[in-house]
Amino acid sequence: MTAVTLAPMEGVVDVYMRDILTQIGGFDLCVSEFVRVSQNLYPASVFYKYCPELRTGGKTAAGVPVHVQIMGGEASVMAENAAFVAELGAPGIDINFGCPAKSVNRRDAGATLLQWPERLYEIVSAVRRAVPPDIPVSAKMRLGFSEKNLALDNALAIAAAGAAKLTVHARTKLEGYKAPAHWEYLRPIADALAIPVVANGEIWTVQDYLRCREISGLKDVMIGRGAIARPTLAREIVALEQQGVENPAYDWPNVKGLLVTYHELLRDMSNPDRQAGRLKQWVKLLGRTYPESSELFTRVRRLQSPDHIAAELEHASLLSAESQDPKVGRCY
Ligand SMILES: Cc1cc2nc3c(=O)[nH]c(=O)nc-3n(C[C@H](O)[C@H](O)[C@H](O)COP(=O)(O)O)c2cc1C
Repeated sequence: MTAVTLAPMEGVVDVYMRDILTQIGGFDLCVSEFVRVSQNLYPASVFYKYCPELRTGGKTAAGVPVHVQIMGGEASVMAENAAFVAELGAPGIDINFGCPAKSVNRRDAGATLLQWPERLYEIVSAVRRAVPPDIPVSAKMRLGFSEKNLALDNALAIAAAGAAKLTVHARTKLEGYKAPAHWEYLRPIADALAIPVVANGEIWTVQDYLRCREISGLKDVMIGRGAIARPTLAREIVALEQQGVENPAYDWPNVKGLLVTYHELLRDMSNPDRQAGRLKQWVKLLGRTYPESSELFTRVRRLQSPDHIAAELEHASLLSAESQDPKVGRCY
């Protein structure tokens, strides 16, 4: 069996995006945007903000669990917050050791911790001890900070600390998001670990998935930008792996339907600038798969109002703007 996880993406994979993409299908799991933990125990409102699904049994409307991701360098505070979010009903806790942002790394969190395997051990084991045994604790790391020489030590430290699973974004912090992803580094990590290892990075198409599987030896993947740019990617991968069939990608009218749904869902957000930003961001990323979306982006890029963007969307082609996939409805 192949498991596909929807990657955490701050400011991109929000509750609405998780809702839409998991209704399309193919995903076994989502991970929330990171919650930055620094000095205190957060109130419940903070966790509900990043993971509103905590109010619906920790699952999206399609029934896919959402694990809550936390990020920080202080083991005891991470543990305290993890225990609390588990009490709030998180079906799993993921720990972020991959964030490359300078502001985060300067403050002792994210990928900077990859320079010290013993600190990863300390954080993961403190979180593991604090959370009830039936709630899985996992981690997500990059191959290193500036070099890859500690990749295996970091992975071993995370596994020894009791993580149930490790996702590896196959690049260092210095490599940022620049292609290629170095999938060849994943195989020795997976060979050395007794826990499942999940491949991540630069999977945009089924062909990329197949190459990653061949090079890394790993069947389970986490996909981020690829799922935003090609909303059917997870179910295309699963159809091929589990049924040996090709499941076609959505055509543009279907994708337009998704954008219309997203616009509707975003009305929940109080700030119209943010609604417009999220909508434009998705239009832009879809341009990688759909030339119609690139063309649409040139028309909406300067628009500030989400409703003006939606109006452009209506005119984006003569075909119906309604989603033609009955699986994707409006559920808010
Ligand atoms: C805009 C953006 C936000 C991200 N936010 C997070 C995050 O909150 N937590 C995390 O672990 N990774 C985060 N990532 C990294 C992704 O989860 C993923 O590891 C990376 O994009 C590589 O996978 P991909 O090539 O499938 O996109 C983010 C990436 C991007 C581009």
